[in-house]
Amino acid sequence: MLVVGGSSSHELAKKIAKHRKVPYSSLKVGHFPDGETFVRFMKPVKGKNVVLVQSMVPPNQSIIEILFAAHTAKELGARKVSLVVPYLAYMREDARFHPGECISAGVLAKAIVPPLDFLVTVDPHLHRFHNLHKVYHVHVKRVTANGLIADHIKRHIKNPLVVGPDGESEQWAKQVAEQVGCPVTVMTKTRYSGTKVKVHFKDKVDYEGMHICLVDDIISTGHTLMQNIKHLRKMGVKKITCFGVHGLFVGDAYKELKRLKVDIVTSNTIPHPSNRLDVSGLLAEAIE
Ligand code: R5P
Repeated sequence: MLVVGGSSSHELAKKIAKHRKVPYSSLKVGHFPDGETFVRFMKPVKGKNVVLVQSMVPPNQSIIEILFAAHTAKELGARKVSLVVPYLAYMREDARFHPGECISAGVLAKAIVPPLDFLVTVDPHLHRFHNLHKVYHVHVKRVTANGLIADHIKRHIKNPLVVGPDGESEQWAKQVAEQVGCPVTVMTKTRYSGTKVKVHFKDKVDYEGMHICLVDDIISTGHTLMQNIKHLRKMGVKKITCFGVHGLFVGDAYKELKRLKVDIVTSNTIPHPSNRLDVSGLLAEAIE
């Protein structure tokens, strides 16, 4: 096996190689003056089980690298090509919301699957596609960071109450709460635009004296969490920790969230200062 780290996932790829006690190599990535991308393997891949590790951040550039690298590995005689894609982008574009729109999740899957033998990802945003197989027609494994979030809560937080910031987060929030053995509730969110959302509790919640743990899969502009935090503060809640599996933190999202005096914990599927949950062990196990 040879673990190859793409430009967005060098550190995570090195950790995976270390867990598996196999060699590591960084994919060389460069750009031509007109912006086109080139990639190059720096160690021979012929006859190897190549494990390419690359999160889809920023989405479009990282996807081009995946396409070029995966096809090249096969052309150069790799025995198998596996893609470890800790953050799988475009999964929220899972329907034609307006006439004429592209269902990007499906088109992306069709484009990247052909050279792959295997794909592993962490908590993909499955909503209208209930199963990764419905969109990625290749041998796939889905790893979850729920256990890491639950362990963190058990170790660091007293009187936790898990809150799912919107209906789509119910699948994560409920599982985390079950593993912690604490109460859970889910907010209802209405989205008006990419950055404008409103939230409210659909259940009557006893939050008195509780430390609220907001658990979501993706933190993008941070507006979903910001609305949740503001709502909870109005209700008198003092202690809030936000958990996100994938911290994209678009623009000033992180700064704005920190301004609301909350603790923020993410996993290292996307490198960020808030990373405190290490998924490398889970991914190393998944490529067994
Ligand atoms: C969508 O439903 C996801 O689960 C997240 O809640 C969403 O992507 C967060 O986006 P933002 O941080 O931009 O509000």
